[in-house]
Amino acid sequence: MISKRVQGFTESVIREMTRVNNEYGGVNLAQGMPNFPPPKELLDAAHRAIDGDFHQYAITWGTPGLRQAIADKYMRFYGVELDPDRHVTVCCGSTETMLSTLLAVLNPGDEVIIFEPFYENYGPGCIISGAEPVFVPLEPPDFSFDPDRLAKAVGPRTRAIIFNSPNNPTGKVFTRQELELIADLCLRYDLLAITDEIYEHIIYDGRVHTPIATLPGMADRTITISGISKSYSVTGWRVGYAVASPEISLGIRRAHDFVTVGAPHPLQEAAVTALSLPDSYYVWLREMYQAKRDLLQGLVEAAGFVAYKPAGAYYILTDVAHFLRRFGFPDDTAFAMYLVKEIGVTTVPGSSFYAHPELGKTKIRFCFPKTDEMLEEAGRRLEKLARA
Ligand SMILES: Cc1ncc(COP(=O)(O)O)c(C=O)c1O
Repeated sequence: MISKRVQGFTESVIREMTRVNNEYGGVNLAQGMPNFPPPKELLDAAHRAIDGDFHQYAITWGTPGLRQAIADKYMRFYGVELDPDRHVTVCCGSTETMLSTLLAVLNPGDEVIIFEPFYENYGPGCIISGAEPVFVPLEPPDFSFDPDRLAKAVGPRTRAIIFNSPNNPTGKVFTRQELELIADLCLRYDLLAITDEIYEHIIYDGRVHTPIATLPGMADRTITISGISKSYSVTGWRVGYAVASPEISLGIRRAHDFVTVGAPHPLQEAAVTALSLPDSYYVWLREMYQAKRDLLQGLVEAAGFVAYKPAGAYYILTDVAHFLRRFGFPDDTAFAMYLVKEIGVTTVPGSSFYAHPELGKTKIRFCFPKTDEMLEEAGRRLEKLARA
């Protein structure tokens, strides 16, 4: 009864882990969303919007006020001048932005390079667009990639390179040198860079985020995707956006119009307040998450996990090969099930971030956009591993 297109899609492992978590009463460090409220200014703005006159369809590609706020923010943070009428498209979260982008720029038979491990939506997004993903590994411990391997992945059908920095699940922040390597390939082989920068403001230890679109020659061949979910703790609001050349923006707007028509009007209105928060908000956000990273890093290491310290985003990827050997588990999924059912902590099995599941077979991902009390409770439960 269902199409060949979706037959290969499995249920999101993260949602499945959340379901099992609820059944067993675990501490849920699986799904990357805060369990604390968004800034009060945003809640007030959303109330004002609901009380106002924003209940009908907005302009399909985003309210003028929000597109202007996005353009202003790109000037403030990255010195990039955008025309909100031609470069900016608002969609329902960066998830829909990515899908509408892929629908806009890919033809059936095109190939798209994706770094592996990757955020699980990119693969199905390519398949829905009729394109074929080609994977290039990010190798632990620093999750760098082999430049030759990336260059060799480019073939006559390659149309785009998708990457995500700061990165889910690895915590990697692509270095300037890596961005230059990707940009060189894009310029040499006439490729597009599709970048998911949803964690642009969650970056640690004094690092700064560099959008690849700011590298020479890249503005017109980059689609920069971001949104308000992570930076302002409002994953349920479903407001994201793409910044791209006028021609590509036109394509994204066409796809977006038929996929969702538009993002929620009152929440677009409230998002203007989010994007206009002062610089001090972003300093607070980085410091708040860096303290949580350090807390969880300490707790998982104390429990015996080999943890790759993230440079950005709010996940810690760990290696559990020694636990698998000690407890006799065949893989990450079996161990993650043990963690939720017997230890009471819910994580995501690493293989769900790989197209080649064997590459993630010894990996487990924790997330930390949670209150300190919740992270500490997870730490207490994980101590049981030492005695098991
Ligand atoms: C890398 C990455 N991109 C996109 C998303 C989803 O973002 P949005 O809520 O804007 O759809 C997530 C959520 O976890 C993510 O980790």
